[in-house]
Amino acid sequence: MTQPLPPKRGLARNTANYGDRDFALYLRRSFAKSMGYSQAMLDKPVVGIVDTGSDYNNCHRTVPELVEAVKRGVLAAGGLPLAFPTVSLCEPSLFPTSMHYRNLAALDTEAMLTAQPMDSVVLIGGCDKTVPAQLMGAASADIPAVQLVTGPMLATPFQGERLSACTDCRRYWAAYRAGTVTRDRIDEIEGRLATTAGTCGVMGTASTMACLAEALGMVPLGHGSIPAVHADRLRAAEEAGALAVRLITAPIRPSQIITAESVENALRVLLALGGSTNALIHLTAIAGRRGVKIDLHRLNELSDTTPVLVDLKPTGEGYMEDFHSAGGMPALLWELRDKLHLGCIDVTGVPLGERLTKPAFVDRRYIRAASEPVSPVGGIVALFGSLAPRGAILKRSAATESLFETESRAMVFDGLEDLANRIDDPDLDVIPADIMVLKNAGSLTPAGMPEAGYLPIPQKLARAGVKDMVRMSDCRMSGTAFGTIVLHITPEAAAGGPLALVESGDRIRLSVRNRSLDLLVDEAVLARRRAAWVPPAKAARGWDRLIQEQVLQADEGCDLAMLRMAG
Ligand code: FES
Repeated sequence: MTQPLPPKRGLARNTANYGDRDFALYLRRSFAKSMGYSQAMLDKPVVGIVDTGSDYNNCHRTVPELVEAVKRGVLAAGGLPLAFPTVSLCEPSLFPTSMHYRNLAALDTEAMLTAQPMDSVVLIGGCDKTVPAQLMGAASADIPAVQLVTGPMLATPFQGERLSACTDCRRYWAAYRAGTVTRDRIDEIEGRLATTAGTCGVMGTASTMACLAEALGMVPLGHGSIPAVHADRLRAAEEAGALAVRLITAPIRPSQIITAESVENALRVLLALGGSTNALIHLTAIAGRRGVKIDLHRLNELSDTTPVLVDLKPTGEGYMEDFHSAGGMPALLWELRDKLHLGCIDVTGVPLGERLTKPAFVDRRYIRAASEPVSPVGGIVALFGSLAPRGAILKRSAATESLFETESRAMVFDGLEDLANRIDDPDLDVIPADIMVLKNAGSLTPAGMPEAGYLPIPQKLARAGVKDMVRMSDCRMSGTAFGTIVLHITPEAAAGGPLALVESGDRIRLSVRNRSLDLLVDEAVLARRRAAWVPPAKAARGWDRLIQEQVLQADEGCDLAMLRMAG
């Protein structure tokens, strides 16, 4: 009987089929030799390195040196490192929004991981959408993968305070809108908000995703929060390279790491961090790639039994560098250990319970003991009701508690243009007690579900000293923002959800206590409005068209339907 051939390794993987695979490999090697590699190097196992360096991506400024450090680690461990580019998404650089392209980056990553010959991969990402996109792609490709994040920027000491992107950006801009900060001052601040390489320095989406990737087990414990400019970040990169080589002989695949249990651990961490609401959408999408569903009712159960332990901006005081030096994820996970699934393995193959040890030092200003939490319950809750049949999200840790039980008049904006045109109109019919509603900004719209859920306080109210109002929409909010803001109303308006039917003057009831969000309008009136509702026109072609035909709603992670796990 013929013995099965040994599995193909290194450059011999995935050769094109011209009807003669030996020739295809011969051809591949001869072209690879044009890059100066010796035969000995080409015979080694291959570690791919996803290089998302881009002149458009300030958060990835250090990627070139990270690639070099990963290569060192791979070479020293006996592998051949081959870096390659993929789509790089920088939050402030993209129109209509980076979210519109997250799935494109995920698709690109998955395709290149499966098309090119590699035995394992190091994924280098950092800015908000890159880490989820890479984890989604790796989860689907299911080849051994280590996530390396670029790391957070350092806060800038400035005239007696510390500044960092981008909670302080919003704080200063809100003060400028309110007329308490001058044009000269806001211009001066602009150059002080982001002064080092790295991702936003607060517990925004990038930082939250780095922590969740660590909780999932795709980032080695302790590596997620190392500042971008710290020498340890380069050592973490070297280690990621060496680990990727180890994963070739002792493979651990994303499918073994991203499981229902590790996803629940990540949800606990999201809640304990008071982390970004965006991370919930991303985690849902990553889990969906492995057939794991996140149930928003379960999220509420977890939220009621998970304390907020991390005190960072935007909800608290510290910055990511404080979190890291306070003990980082090892310290946080230790505090949460009674609530975690300790059998989950990570990229090192070691169960969480064995990776956790009592930390020698924890700075309790930033990582509280479970017995003295920032809040006894989690940072995020899901709301359900006639306005959000499939759910909506509120970050209660960043909201004003006195607004948690509100029944009031709706002041509706029909889309982003309407919002921009009217928000600062001195004649706008709005009072502080109103609920501001933005519709037609979900993932099916050309707006691409932007971070516009942080509707600005109308200028005339801001100038009168109003700091917060209940605001709600079918879009997202930056992880660095704060306020009593209901997000991800599902189904979105463009999908014909009840949100599409809301009009100014309607009454809406928000009850955080009851986890409810209701539109208080007679069914007969709604039926009339529904009959008159016209779905938005579809884009003629291209990525926008594909999105409109394929994108799922927020409760399914806004992934493309065709990219979810089959079956
Ligand atoms: Fe890249 Fe904030 S803009 S992490």
